[in-house]
Formats: sequence, structure tokens, C-alpha cells
Amino acid sequence: MAVESKYDPKDMVFRHLGPTGLKVSIFSLGGWLTYGGTQKGNIVKECLQTAWDHGVNTFDTAETYASGQSEIEMGNALKELAWPRDEYVLITKLFFGTGRKEPNTRGLSRKHVVEGLKSSLQRLQQPYVDVVFAHRPDYATPMKEIVEGFTQVIRNLNLAYYWGTSEWSAVQIMEATQIAEKYNLIAPIAEQPQYNAFHRERFEVEYAPLYEQFKYGSTIWSPLASGLLTGKYNNGIPEGSRFHNHKDFFDNKIKELESENGKAQIEKVKKLTAIAEKLGGNASQLALAWAAKNENVSTVILGATKPEQIKDNCAALKLLAKLTPELMEEIEKVLDNKPSMPPNFGRSRRIVNKRRSKL
Ligand SMILES: NC(=O)c1ccc[n+]([C@@H]2O[C@H](COP(=O)([O-])OP(=O)(O)OC[C@H]3O[C@@H](n4cnc5c(N)ncnc54)[C@H](OP(=O)(O)O)[C@@H]3O)[C@@H](O)[C@H]2O)c1
Repeated sequence: MAVESKYDPKDMVFRHLGPTGLKVSIFSLGGWLTYGGTQKGNIVKECLQTAWDHGVNTFDTAETYASGQSEIEMGNALKELAWPRDEYVLITKLFFGTGRKEPNTRGLSRKHVVEGLKSSLQRLQQPYVDVVFAHRPDYATPMKEIVEGFTQVIRNLNLAYYWGTSEWSAVQIMEATQIAEKYNLIAPIAEQPQYNAFHRERFEVEYAPLYEQFKYGSTIWSPLASGLLTGKYNNGIPEGSRFHNHKDFFDNKIKELESENGKAQIEKVKKLTAIAEKLGGNASQLALAWAAKNENVSTVILGATKPEQIKDNCAALKLLAKLTPELMEEIEKVLDNKPSMPPNFGRSRRIVNKRRSKL
């Protein structure tokens, strides 16, 4: 029987996830602190539906989010929404476990990679995820075992199609890739790093050789610096916001708001807001479009507590199309934080992946 399509891409932009044939929407939706955390039940379904209605086809979660509750809530929502499974891309991440104390219920041992993914899939009520990420490097497990574990869940167990890394160093990613090549195992295809206008160095400098040599992809997180780039913290901490609801976790960030650096960042947000308004948008949309403009970003993972935020954030597509080199230069002047690349002495191996970007 033919499957009835439920997906309308609208004006969404798609990029390949790194060197693969898998296409991800430039904006995706994740569930850290939100789904299964502060948001449960119908609102989770509404958020996923709103993203889907704006052309988002990619969704991100992790075993550790809300101690497994994020996978449960997102899994319930996906079940109720009943989209054809081949019309969306689902990501989960392993490493931190769900909070249990037994030492084999976390990390990247072969045991936890296999058992952890099986448990995630149970919570998600899914037969497989499209991409499974190693949520952090595991210094206690030999790299060969890690690569073997991820190869096993993909090649032997059909529990995932691809695997990636999250907050690994470039050296660790290279090591995993070389081990995969040497032993005919499956190499990781993308990183999940923090990347936003206030957090640039690792993504832009350290990972640069990975984009060039492996066309390594990226699913970037905290594109709004947890909300700072929306302007919502310009005049203190509003009730019900992330910093308000998770005071202890964000203690350092909250203190930083009062520091010289924090105050300077707020001034920058105000200037960025003025640029955004000139373009017919707002600060959030400009920050998201700025991140998406980087061709090494495969997808920008949005975080949202409410459907209205998703609607607002997906409108960043309009600004993305307006970001000319002159405007990028104007933004760069405001940010004044461009990391410097190591000198290349006039020599470069830059390979442009023409398939990756429509823009
Ligand atoms: N791999 C990793 O280590 C890692 C780490 C962190 C996150 N992630 C992934 O990346 C995803 C995104 O990260 P993030 O949630 O930190 O992203 P973010 O975009 O930096 O922050 C999202 C938060 O900002 C606020 N917000 C979003 N849009 C807004 C708008 N238009 N107006 C006002 N406020 C707005 C909301 O919080 P409030 O409404 O509560 O203020 C929302 O939950 C996560 O869900 C997760 O899937 C991965």
C-alpha cells in the first residue's frame, strides 16, 4: 500500500549531513531541558507539529535528557503524530546514561553503546534512529572499542544508520576516523558542538581540518546561547525563562551577565537587534540565520519551550536569504570576536562541498 505523505517542506533549506546522502533541514528541533523536563504531554506534540509544519524534518534528543524522560515524551509525540518514518530524521545521543549509578549504564563501552541504544529505542518506541551520537568522548574506553561499538549497532544490529561525535576534540575525531579506515569499521560523520555568535573558536578553528578532509558535518547546539541572543536577558532574568527555571545549572552564566563580559555581550545583542530590525526580523532570527549561514553547519538545532518560539525561529529562513557579505561584515564588526585561523602561508586545500548548500 502506498504511504500517504504528510510532509510539506515549505521553503525549508536542506543540507547533507556531512559526507552522507542524508538530508537534514537547516533548522531542526531538540529536547534538552524542555521536552520531558519543563514541558510534558500535549505541548511537546504541539512543538514537534509546529516544527514539522515549517518544514523541519530533523529531531534531536539524548538518553540523559530529563533522565530518559525526553526520549519518552518525544517518542509519545512521534507515535501520536504518526508521520511516515522515512519522512523524518531522528537523532539520539549516548554517554551520560539516565542517572543510574551502575558504572556500565553510561560511557561508550561496547556494552553501553549497544544496551544504551536499545534502551533509548524502547523509550522512543522506535525500531531505529537515523543518527546516534557519542555525547562526549570516553577516556576510559579504548577508541577501537568505541568505533567497533558504533559499527556494531549500525552494521550488525540495524539500530542506527550513522554515528557522530559531540564535543570531541578534532584529534579524537581524527583518531576514530583513522581507526575506522584501518579496520574496515564505520567512521563518524558529524559533530554536535556548541556554536553561536558568542561561542566560535572550536567550531571555526579547531574543526576546520575536519570539514576539509572528511566533509565532516555538524548539528550545532545552543544557537541562541540559551536565549541570551534573543535579547530576553537584556534587562534581567524574566520569570519562566530558562535561566529562571534552571537557576542552579546556569549559576555561572547568570553571574556572568553581571560581569564586564556579560554587559558587553548584552550591548552587542542590542546592536544586533537593530540590524535584525532593519532586515524586518528580530534578534533571535538574526542569530539563527548567522549560524546557518556558515556552510560547515549542517543543521542548527533549535530549542523551544513553546510553539510560538518555533514559529518565530523558523522565520530566520527569511533573514538567511538576506545575509549578504556586506551584512555579515557589519555583524562581524559588532561581534568583534572572530577567532583567528592559524597562518597557512598562502597554501590551502579548501574543498567546497557544492552539494551541501543551496545558498
Ligand atoms: N550535544 C550537546 O552536548 C548538547 C548540549 C545542549 C543542547 N543540545 C541540543 O541542542 C538543542 C538546542 O540547544 P538549546 O536549547 O540550548 O538552544 P538555544 O536556542 O540556545 O536555547 C533555546 C531556549 O531559548 C529560549 N528561546 C528559544 N527561542 C526563543 C525565542 N524566539 N524567543 C525567546 N526565547 C526563545 C527558550 O527557553 P525559555 O523559553 O525557557 O527561556 C529555549 O528553550 C537542545 O534542545 C539539544 O537537542 C546538545
